Amino acid sequence: MTLAPTSSRFALTTPLYYVNDIPHLGSAYTTLAADALARFKRLQGYPVLFITGADEHGQKIQRTAEALGLDPQTHCDHIVEKFQTLWTALEIRYDRFSRTTAPRHRAIVEDFFNRVYARGDIYQSQQRGWYCVACEEFKEERDLLEGGHCPLHPKIKAEWRDEENYFFRLSRYQEQLETLYREKPEFIQPESRRNEVLKFVAQGLQDFSISRVNVDWGFPLPCDPSHTIYVWFDALLGYMTALLEPEDEPTLENALATWWPINLHLIGKDILRFHAVYWPAMLMSAGLPLPERVFGHGFLTKDGQKMSKSQGNTIDPLDLVHRYGADAVRYYFLKEIEFGRDGDFNETRFVQILNADLANDLGNLLNRALGMVKKYCQGQGPQLTGADIEPEQTLRRLGETLGERAVQAYDQLAFHQVCELALALVRAGNKHIDETAPWKRFKAGEQAEVERILYGVLESLRLAAYLLSPIIPNLSERIYAQLGFNLMTADFERHSQWGVLSAQGELPEGQPVFARIELPANGAESEKTV
Ligand code: MSP
Repeated sequence: MTLAPTSSRFALTTPLYYVNDIPHLGSAYTTLAADALARFKRLQGYPVLFITGADEHGQKIQRTAEALGLDPQTHCDHIVEKFQTLWTALEIRYDRFSRTTAPRHRAIVEDFFNRVYARGDIYQSQQRGWYCVACEEFKEERDLLEGGHCPLHPKIKAEWRDEENYFFRLSRYQEQLETLYREKPEFIQPESRRNEVLKFVAQGLQDFSISRVNVDWGFPLPCDPSHTIYVWFDALLGYMTALLEPEDEPTLENALATWWPINLHLIGKDILRFHAVYWPAMLMSAGLPLPERVFGHGFLTKDGQKMSKSQGNTIDPLDLVHRYGADAVRYYFLKEIEFGRDGDFNETRFVQILNADLANDLGNLLNRALGMVKKYCQGQGPQLTGADIEPEQTLRRLGETLGERAVQAYDQLAFHQVCELALALVRAGNKHIDETAPWKRFKAGEQAEVERILYGVLESLRLAAYLLSPIIPNLSERIYAQLGFNLMTADFERHSQWGVLSAQGELPEGQPVFARIELPANGAESEKTV
């Protein structure tokens, strides 16, 4: 499986986040992963469009604003600012922030709605069923917990609805969807999520309602302004609005001109059905090409329960960034949790991993190697190139296949594997020093051998830092600078290979790149799981 775009550009999205509350660690998780991938694609030289944004309509937001005594737009503006502040702190480099309350979005929604309407896929009927406002979704009675609570929001009771709504003829697309999943098995990833979708679709698709009569906070339905458009119908189209250039007239045609179809929708597993079933069916109805891929990752949990505001079991990511820095937070989540699976966050483990990988292995090796350059080579970088290192040297052997393996891992969104691969080379570097003991070689007057050893180690550090740069951008930049390079201008074809360091002048004295971190005073005993 690869994520190689069919075209020469790469567009990817995070979900558009509900703005019922400030972002928590769970909601930041998708964005961290999307940012790492976007950075990797940019490193490879692709033009990238990285879209994130806010999903602002619907009953959930309307009620939240009412409870706060605010008009919904003021509330949304306030929360959107919080999201943007967090993205800046986490060094998220998005290209577009799509807001579903933007006036140009309304034009896109109407344009799209009219196409689907003209296709005969919208009709009026009675909607009866249990609605979870936190999910903004009707639930089957058999899926509810005892007492009628939603399994994803066990504190929230589903509400009974019996109203006249407009429906989208999803059932009409059953066969076309099944063909899509069969012919493009890579459309839904990972495999476990694909199976979930296949199972759901095999039960037979039901039409779903796309309008509401009791919710004012939304766009009026073009064919009947006494209804507003269902928040999910509106939100998915936010991906399209995001594709407009700032100066474009807001028409579907303009939105789709350059970046459509989107290459990758990154989402959490709870919203798989919307992206892998409803969304492609809506696009089929409108006669538009489909996105290439939908990847559903797992949940950050606390005690096995999805971390969410309604559960009251969240942690503030901004607090974590302020205490440990953006690279630390980015590294931990992408290294520790296999993307696609659920994972618990534990602060003790967080500190252990960062100290072990970034402070001890990576940071120390750089210090150690630069210290030896100073001591044994008068501060001059080894006057060698990769070709001067014997092919059987462990570091060269490992390093020569690393770039390719890391590319594969990124393409499979296996961020934990990228970290493991890069750290394996770093650890091999530490071991190589221990085993070859450059201090003995120096004493024995074997200067050429000392330089070969140091070359291998410094080059391994460079390569590891380069390949990790989408995950730990600041740390990688600091390592690169200490090795005399500029990460910003490094060419991918060359820098992703082993053997780039070449005879160069003076290297600076090593500066610590990642300081060891201490557990907060109560951290160790409380084994804070958040
Ligand atoms: N507004 C919709 C998405 C519309 S996209 C057109 C929505 N918003 S959300 O804010 O509730 O969730 C956004 C994303 O955050 C989802 O992918 C969801 O899976 C993810 N997460 C929210 N809590 C999470 C965890 N505890 N763990 C990991 N991701 C979770 O759904």
